[in-house]
Amino acid sequence: MFNFDNIEKNLKKANIFDEVKVLKTVGSTNNYIKTYDSLGKNLIVFAEKQTNGRGRMGRTWLSDFDGCLMFSFKIPLDKISENIRFVTQLVAICLHKVLLKELGSVSLLIKWPNDLMLNSKKICGILTETVIESKENISLVIGIGLNIKGEIKDENIVNIASTIEKETGIAIDVEKFLCEFFDCFFKSFNLLCDKPFIENEFISYINEYFYLKNKEITRNGVIGFSKGIDELGRLIFDTGYEIKYIDYGEVV
Ligand code: BTN
Repeated sequence: MFNFDNIEKNLKKANIFDEVKVLKTVGSTNNYIKTYDSLGKNLIVFAEKQTNGRGRMGRTWLSDFDGCLMFSFKIPLDKISENIRFVTQLVAICLHKVLLKELGSVSLLIKWPNDLMLNSKKICGILTETVIESKENISLVIGIGLNIKGEIKDENIVNIASTIEKETGIAIDVEKFLCEFFDCFFKSFNLLCDKPFIENEFISYINEYFYLKNKEITRNGVIGFSKGIDELGRLIFDTGYEIKYIDYGEVV
């Protein structure tokens, strides 16, 4: 279990969010925060336990052990930028940068668009959603599940998921991690929203740590190889006959 008193104190001191909440049990922190009236403020919610954790594409987020750090944060958008569609990848980049600094030379890769893989096992998932309360009141909700310590028990995922501590033996300082992550995220998020284009650095970072590089993938029943992402952040899918660019959707 994490020391949520310290996490809460630390985040309040860092003044990153207007409100910090820690819940003992909740269905899903994303669901909770989506319906919580945060009155246009930045809000973050942690859960010690989720009973209905959600992932992308209607999947379930399983966390039957104490070492998964689960939180969602809500940020009101003062302007709508085209680049908001890159936010999940931006979160993945910041999580990756901060963790890599801490873990040193490990195989930590970004599985487009929203997972982090450590030694080819999933240690993190990101779920980004938009909340439209009115025309002027639009927020982003970003939910993160990060397997930090302990061991996965669920037999359905034990072979495909793991925890940072299990894979590396390294104990992450959670308070430090969160401050560094949010520092990276908010700086880059403001830049991302202010620009009409996407930085090369952003695309090259994802391509450098691209888990799916040259891996065989299936999309709508078609088999091919994933080559990386293009300058618009789309997955480059080579079927052998043609190159396709995938914006969003399921690849296996
Ligand atoms: C995925 O792997 O598809 C995304 C998983 C996101 C899980 C986190 S845990 C905290 C937040 N609350 C949820 O219900 N989901 C996200």
